[in-house]
Amino acid sequence: MENSRGNWGSNIGFLLAAIGSAVGLGNIWGFPYKMGKNGGFAFLIIYLILAVLVGFVIMIAEISLGRKTGKGAFGTYKELAKGFKWVGAMAVIVPLLIMTFYSVLGAYCMEYMFVNLGDLAFHTLNMSGGDLFGAMLTNPFGCIVYTFLFMALCFLIVKGGIKDGIEKFNVVGMPTLAIMLVIVIIRSVTLPGASEGLKFMFAPNFEPLKENFIGVLSVAGGQMFFSLSLAMGIMITYGSYLSKKENIVRNTGIIVLSDTIVAIMAGLAVLPAAFALGGEDAAMSGPKLLFITLQDVFASMGQIGPIFGTIFYLLVLIAAMTSAISLTEVIATMYVDRCAEKGKEPNRMKATAVICVIIFLGASVIAADGLGSNGMWVPFQNSLGVVGSFNDCWLDFVDFIAEGLLMPLGALLMSIIVGWIIGPDKVKEEVEINGTHKFAAYGFFKFCIKFFVPVAMAFILVGQVDGFLGLGIFS
Ligand code: TRP
Repeated sequence: MENSRGNWGSNIGFLLAAIGSAVGLGNIWGFPYKMGKNGGFAFLIIYLILAVLVGFVIMIAEISLGRKTGKGAFGTYKELAKGFKWVGAMAVIVPLLIMTFYSVLGAYCMEYMFVNLGDLAFHTLNMSGGDLFGAMLTNPFGCIVYTFLFMALCFLIVKGGIKDGIEKFNVVGMPTLAIMLVIVIIRSVTLPGASEGLKFMFAPNFEPLKENFIGVLSVAGGQMFFSLSLAMGIMITYGSYLSKKENIVRNTGIIVLSDTIVAIMAGLAVLPAAFALGGEDAAMSGPKLLFITLQDVFASMGQIGPIFGTIFYLLVLIAAMTSAISLTEVIATMYVDRCAEKGKEPNRMKATAVICVIIFLGASVIAADGLGSNGMWVPFQNSLGVVGSFNDCWLDFVDFIAEGLLMPLGALLMSIIVGWIIGPDKVKEEVEINGTHKFAAYGFFKFCIKFFVPVAMAFILVGQVDGFLGLGIFS
């Protein structure tokens, strides 16, 4: 059975794939703009604390449980926590939901890459970032075609399986991404006026925390576990393919550290450039930072602009793809495990195709909506009378269900299940299974998973709901 499931080719392959999953739009798009909007340095500090006390702890638990059972999220909860099968089911539904908008955002990056490439070759681009973005969003057909291309690529990788598909793509993609990111950072921090951006990121300033502590906490918390691919069965799934020889705690440390470094690097690539070329307003411009502000930044560089534009959007595309394949794999693994349970030979190719088609169909609605530009959310909202406007946009609504509700709820339940039902000692057993890796930080782990994580997650959950619905509980 072990063989029909497959395994990672090497520990470094596992690491690159897990880092590939973690490093995505969350880091390169979400982190800089959320940091821009939530007080720069103060946000960074809260983020770092949460990454160590919550992210690191949950990830150790996920990888251990996955490796222990040798099954994906659904199978793991079914086996270890009787009566909590539905938490596993949730961990399969949420990746599906996330993928319906993640693939559209990935498609935007692909389109931007081609636009910059076209500009490089033919100097045809004569629009501002805002006009370009608007034109793209109000062309539903184009967005759907790019979403299709994104999902087709995703299919081609995931159908190859763990070692020959996912691992191979990450082993090439991740180092390439790192190199391109360094190139863009060098350009960004050497622009005249970039130092304002650096000051905003790194000069101590705790004012924003005094104004709205829970707000910053919940945005940083939501960002942290989205960025680390937590609470959605990814790390359970990837852990289930990991060899018993490997050191889980060290691997987790490397993944969390790399993801955090890339987020800060993305901040360095984006914020100083935004400050230099558009001032503070540009840096605080929110979600449109990546597609409007930065496009203008590249345009203002003259001849070399499209080169940086092409490199930058290609790197974001790679980051999005390595994350998208992990989300798709969670669902594929569930299918493979179910076949094994029933004694059937799994057909990975067919299953992957079905999953990708379902995602594409859902994504088509979000692509056609164009972040609300084409008004497809409004009739739905009117007929249901749902609370919160979700910016009149399908993407925001789906994001609320996934990132705002189900993910923090999943993480909260997970910490309670591991801390109080399965017991943290099971994690210790798995970490130390072959006798060579001692779980030195076990005391820290046990305390965090039992007490700190559930409390923090409860606050983050309420804060997320508050933020998405604009209830104003904390402000
Ligand atoms: N971590 C990725 C990012 O930062 C997104 C992602 C991949 C994800 N897999 C996930 C988010 C699982 C939540 C759950 O963009």
